[in-house]
Amino acid sequence: MIFESHKLLTKHLKSTVIGSKSIGLIPTMGALHDGHISLMKEAVSQCDHLVVSIFVNPTQFENKKDLEKYPKTISKDIALIKKHIDANKLTIYAPSIEDVYGNDTASKEYHYDGLEKVMEGANRPGHFNGVGTILEFLFTIVEPDKAFFGEKDFQQLQIVKKLTEKLQLEIEIIGCPIKREAHGLAMSSRNERLSIKGRKKAAFIYQTLLKAQEYFKKNSITKTQEFVKDTFSKQADFKLEYFTIASEETLQPVVTRKYKNYHYMGFIVAHLEGIRLIDNISLPQ
Ligand code: PAF
Repeated sequence: MIFESHKLLTKHLKSTVIGSKSIGLIPTMGALHDGHISLMKEAVSQCDHLVVSIFVNPTQFENKKDLEKYPKTISKDIALIKKHIDANKLTIYAPSIEDVYGNDTASKEYHYDGLEKVMEGANRPGHFNGVGTILEFLFTIVEPDKAFFGEKDFQQLQIVKKLTEKLQLEIEIIGCPIKREAHGLAMSSRNERLSIKGRKKAAFIYQTLLKAQEYFKKNSITKTQEFVKDTFSKQADFKLEYFTIASEETLQPVVTRKYKNYHYMGFIVAHLEGIRLIDNISLPQ
């Protein structure tokens, strides 16, 4: 069933779904792709019922142009979900801005113990307040047992875990591996806005991450960062916003020497054809 009203959604879940059944939630902003479908399949394998929300959340966009251009493909999205997920195990919530925010489209303020101060948090002011606001809302109206998020937005995943810990919500947050296109580009709703040529060219981001992964095994943190910057500087079509090596647990950037028991990851944002593309890779030593 599809709901546009959160009151009716909660009523439906309380009367027909909740009880002995476990609920999995997948929050999305639509423009669904195979990455979302793999999250949904994982959720269905772990939970009795799946709730998918489709809502382009305005408060998490610090850049209004980005919000305007965000692809909106609701009918296609619903058809795609129905193609892959048994309708008896599925509830879709696709609200208007008013249903979520009433007449005050504003974020609440959240503190995530510093996780919000780096990378996406530093470069997109207010972004994680917007994400926190919509997720707290969805967690409250759905009361899921588990919620599923892709590891492409790894910082978001860590922040959601912190959010549930701070709000003392008993929701298990499950991170799912990045789904990639055949040539390696991380699947993302934003890829829709790339030209066919651009989509192929964007595979360069992952190819560079793989090279950085090898390079990191024999070189320092600073040298690996320089390697990635140099590699991008030779590509006129790309603009590298950041490549940061950070601890997987704390997400704090590391620039000093390598510590043996640290799990390092490389986080990247690069722009191609004016589209902001995000990816990450683990960096074993
Ligand atoms: O990752 C996303 O698509 C969004 O940030 C989310 C989690 C659906 C919140 O709007």
